[in-house]
Amino acid sequence: MSRLDNYEVLNQLKYIDGITIIDNKGTILFTIKFNPIFHSEIREREEILGESLFTVFPSLNEKSSTLLNSLKTGRPIFKSKQEIVDFMGRKIETTNISLPIRAHGKIIGAIELSKERSKEDSISNNAIEINSEMFRGDKRLLESIRPERAKFTLKDIITDNEQMKNLKRLTEKTAKGSSPVFIYGETGTGKELFAQSLHNASNRAEKPFIAQNCAAIPEALIESILFGTIKGSFTGAENNPGLFEIAEGGTIFLDEINSMPIHLQSKLLRVLQDGYIRRLGDRNIRKVDVRIITASNKRPEDCVKDKDMRLDLYYRLCVMTLNIPPLRERINDIKPLLDFFISKYNVLLHKNITNVSKEVYDFLLRYNWPGNVRELEHIVEFAINQIDEWEDTLQMKDIEDRVKNFIKHSEEEFQIEPLKDAVARLEKIMIEKAINKTKNNVSQAAKLLEIPRQTLQNKIRLYEIVPKS
Ligand SMILES: Nc1ncnc2c1ncn2[C@@H]1O[C@H](COP(=O)(O)OP(=O)(O)OP(=O)(O)O)[C@@H](O)[C@H]1O
Ligand SMILES: [Mg+2]
Repeated sequence: MSRLDNYEVLNQLKYIDGITIIDNKGTILFTIKFNPIFHSEIREREEILGESLFTVFPSLNEKSSTLLNSLKTGRPIFKSKQEIVDFMGRKIETTNISLPIRAHGKIIGAIELSKERSKEDSISNNAIEINSEMFRGDKRLLESIRPERAKFTLKDIITDNEQMKNLKRLTEKTAKGSSPVFIYGETGTGKELFAQSLHNASNRAEKPFIAQNCAAIPEALIESILFGTIKGSFTGAENNPGLFEIAEGGTIFLDEINSMPIHLQSKLLRVLQDGYIRRLGDRNIRKVDVRIITASNKRPEDCVKDKDMRLDLYYRLCVMTLNIPPLRERINDIKPLLDFFISKYNVLLHKNITNVSKEVYDFLLRYNWPGNVRELEHIVEFAINQIDEWEDTLQMKDIEDRVKNFIKHSEEEFQIEPLKDAVARLEKIMIEKAINKTKNNVSQAAKLLEIPRQTLQNKIRLYEIVPKS
């Protein structure tokens, strides 16, 4: 969430009328609601103490609950509208701030300060609401908020791999110019890291770096968010700059560019061609000086082939392409990355791991790393979190829980069983993977699996696959 949105939440949260504290398992330790609406809507306070947040509010998950999100990320989370459905199926809307609770360097829980969302806070049209949340407010204030700096530089990219070293050199050279850069790499390979480093290595480093994930904004809002609006262009619209104007002089990083609808891609083409943008509803055009970095975890050629990207846009965006190799293709990076993450979490979690057992190391070299560097970091974080203070060696038992599915599938001798059962089991795994990878988009998942959408629908029902939220 951007600092702009955070400001918006603080603006709405002039007071609070509820406090909730959970422990690191999501158990409710304390809750008090001063607003009578809650007393009729949820169970008695005493009754829900010690229960899991999920039981009391079955609609919540890590994404929708600020408490759980804060617990997971270890960061403060601001949210202007959290919808909760209580166990009776009734809806309540709140504005929340959640903060993680730390003790001895560990996150042991989270606290939420909340307020029932009032009528004035709610605008019936959801689409306009998101837009106004981004842009509502005093323009001077908006201008005074400096976008966050890109924090990573090329030095932060740890590698011993020749291909990666070349990529770093190429990034440094490319940074000097202004041409668009396309970054391709599987999930967790470091695309954002490269995008930020490129910005910081350029002479735009002192100017804004604005990152926007194209898959994260509703289609109807992409245009106004990127290019801005003119008062009256639609209900509730104000005179507001879009991200291109906010990024003036700096860099805009459009992540998951392949999820931008094709008809909007042509508008992007216009900026790329002549550097002009037009705010939604404006008759005039405006000149902007912004470098465009785009990224996708699908090969650019495949984006074109699958009609996720216009061919003309592809030619413009891919003037310079950085292909980040997956971790399994650069296993000599495992050791330096492992050492780096161990030192990082030793400091953060007050542990003192100095060795890694041979068994763990061998395993890490054999593993296929579907989540790449991010997954390696998570495995180390997980292990160091639960390791005892007096231990100095990372052992297989410390990472087993995290990687046991892989171990089970790769190392367990397969038992003879009816072939149709074995095939069905694999089919289910593949479908779950495709559904997760495409964030529950059945059409895209069907494409990945190369089967008709309807067939996939039938199989999802057959295997009772529930999408992960
Ligand atoms: N070479 C590296 N050295 C140090 N840290 C790295 C390296 N590569 C990735 N990381 C870390 O791994 C995590 C994932 O990196 P990043 O977010 O840049 O990946 P991504 O390719 O953008 O992933 P996604 O496709 O899921 O958005 C980050 O915490 C990043 O700091
Ligand atoms: Mg990313």
